[in-house]
Amino acid sequence: MLDGIKTIDDLPLENKRVFIRVDFNVPLDKASGRITDDERIQASLPTIKKAIASGARVILASHLGRPKGERNPKYSLEPAAARLSELIGQDVTLPDDCIGDAPKKVIGDLRPGQVCLLENLRFHPQEEKNDEAFAKELASFTDVYVNDAFGSSHRAHASVYGLARLIRDRGMGYLLRNEIQALDRVVSSPERPFVAILGGAKVTDKIAVIEALLSKCDALCIGGAMANTLLAAQGFDMKKSLYEADWLAKGRTLLETAKSRNVDLVLPTDVVTGTGVDATDGKTVKANAVPEGEMALDIGPETVKAFASRLAKAKTIFWNGPMGLFENKAFAAGTNGIAQAVADANGFSVVGGGDSVAAVKAAGDAVLAKIGFISTGGGASLELVEGKKLPGVEALRP
Ligand code: 3PG
Repeated sequence: MLDGIKTIDDLPLENKRVFIRVDFNVPLDKASGRITDDERIQASLPTIKKAIASGARVILASHLGRPKGERNPKYSLEPAAARLSELIGQDVTLPDDCIGDAPKKVIGDLRPGQVCLLENLRFHPQEEKNDEAFAKELASFTDVYVNDAFGSSHRAHASVYGLARLIRDRGMGYLLRNEIQALDRVVSSPERPFVAILGGAKVTDKIAVIEALLSKCDALCIGGAMANTLLAAQGFDMKKSLYEADWLAKGRTLLETAKSRNVDLVLPTDVVTGTGVDATDGKTVKANAVPEGEMALDIGPETVKAFASRLAKAKTIFWNGPMGLFENKAFAAGTNGIAQAVADANGFSVVGGGDSVAAVKAAGDAVLAKIGFISTGGGASLELVEGKKLPGVEALRP
């Protein structure tokens, strides 16, 4: 998958202006603007430290959120620059733009081993359009290009794709390499049995990945609101539960495909219901007996056991998406139970997607330590599992 692509170890770094595309799209607390989870910054440290130690003049660049091509202080990378500075124990200069005079001045003043972080790339609409002139502006101060932004590598944006193609000395950072290698163990000839767990709100978002998994895995366990659509497709009355009424026919086709391919498609047999998303207590009921006026908000204990029994036998595990409304304590047991079951399983496991990773972390260090690989990219990891090529990786090829 990575044949012919250079890593940062193969690139000239000393005294060079090394542009490292990172994914510092970190979650921020709405009220205080503080970073609530710095995993993505931590995960890029080996690459950044390597560049510093090699005497590169380090230019980091990222997006944060979706500012829709407009400058908006709410999406400034300032908190990320401050956190990175703490982590590496040196100054990180943040010019107030990613193109124009401000970054040129800062980059011109950088000495070997010094670091700057450009302001949010998405303050310019050209970034998401992979605009050539914008990529050329970035290239005007770049000698060497490194992609370490796995989480953004499914986006053919200027800093991920166009810029890479303009720079001869280009390659991947350690984070990008580690992510692709870990996911490759899931995507190409996984050790069997291969068990996948999918959750989250919508079947529509994950149709392509379900279809891909139905031709790859031995068991596919589906929870979260997306399971409601499949339960409704089986004829269950899901009452107030969230489900996609216009996807029932497609849901039935997926169930038939699973049967014809001999894939053990495991749906919830029990669910935890509540009167609404703010409910403070839940009721465990059979999946075909959701009470009038209530909605399914988590998988029940019997379902956790059923999923866990598949996980216990698995040699390869892929998990993306929570099993319910886990941010509400009353409906977190299912997601936490699956986090524990993935940790207890002996197979190689990859967990991706902000919510499932948050659930694994919330379950504590002991659970976290037993996960094979925590992916920093939700969308990017799903696209790899679907069998798609990532533009950010393809752009690095010779
Ligand atoms: C992510 O958080 O998945 C990546 O940073 C990509 O962000 P995007 O979905 O806004 O492109």
